[in-house]
Amino acid sequence: MKKITTIVATAALIASVSYAKEIKIGVVLPLTGPIAAFGQTSNDGLKIAYAERHKLKNGDKIKLIVLDDRGDKVEAATATKRLIDKNHVTAILGEVASSNSMAMAPIAERSKTPMITHASTNPRVTKGKKFVTRACFIDPFQGAIQANYAYDHGYKTAVIVTDAKQDYSVGVSKAFKKAYLKRGGKILGRVIINSGDKDFNAQVSTIKSKHPDIVDFTGYYPEAALMVRQARAMGVKAAFIGGDGVGFPELIKIAGKAAEGFMYSDHFNEAAATSPAAKAYVDAFHAKYHKPADSMGALAADAYNMILDAMNKCSNPADKICVNKNLRDTKNFQGVTGVINIDKNGDAVKSGVVNVVRNGKFAYLTTVNP
Ligand code: PHE
Repeated sequence: MKKITTIVATAALIASVSYAKEIKIGVVLPLTGPIAAFGQTSNDGLKIAYAERHKLKNGDKIKLIVLDDRGDKVEAATATKRLIDKNHVTAILGEVASSNSMAMAPIAERSKTPMITHASTNPRVTKGKKFVTRACFIDPFQGAIQANYAYDHGYKTAVIVTDAKQDYSVGVSKAFKKAYLKRGGKILGRVIINSGDKDFNAQVSTIKSKHPDIVDFTGYYPEAALMVRQARAMGVKAAFIGGDGVGFPELIKIAGKAAEGFMYSDHFNEAAATSPAAKAYVDAFHAKYHKPADSMGALAADAYNMILDAMNKCSNPADKICVNKNLRDTKNFQGVTGVINIDKNGDAVKSGVVNVVRNGKFAYLTTVNP
């Protein structure tokens, strides 16, 4: 009797070892180039999540294939094709910038490969797509957070800064305008910049001449840092508010004191994070990197875990259709960045925060629920 048990146990062991597969997840990030901080911080968070969990419940092992697109949409598309056609990944995580995710989405859609962007907030990323999901809120939500926060704190007139090269910025500008007007605010004007610009003399002069209470800066941190520095140097007294694209250490590194008081809507602030998922992540993050956990890494960790949860619900975790269905059906996911529910468009319905630069650090102001 004993012998038979041993044989059965051994057979079961062999079976589980020989059948454990490797399941590949492709990742597309801007690890180098002008917005490298987006990619690097995403990757930091991903490493924490992967270290915690890299096996599925059936024993299959997860392999991550991370590709750098240098922040370029053509490269993002090429990387996506390569991950699907050459690496045969089951799912794709990425990108950060909405313009880059929008270059990837049609490829994922055509090949029926589930794609989840952890950070792209423009509504058009998922629009009309059955295979594209996101772990973050969308820009109409964060535009309204900025507008309402600004108006309710006494900033009744605004100038909007739009980065014409970024779909993200165009979308946030539109959302801010709509919500700010609805609240009762007055838009005094709009100035246009382009990613890569270094000299904002003309735009800052326009802003100065309009005397707004607040400037809504809707682009990314490299331009935000230079513009706010030049604005302060030219005597602009208006407050600055922005979106998730500005809250990076580079903002403070480049703008120095001029960054003080810069407010922005964001996905997460560890100071306000109390859930078990957030606490575990923040502790692991501190232990590994010895710095505060940022929102970008937290979003990447959430997107990764959403994929694994979706895979765990499939009898074959490499079945892309099944994984996609479960991803789109995500409900009540207890993430680092909060509780995530995916709606019928593939968008995450969840809370956001407002942060501010205070004494050279990112401080928490408030949480806004959907
Ligand atoms: N939301 C930005 C976009 O869609 C990307 C971003 C997210 C940047 C979070 C920084 C932090 O383009």
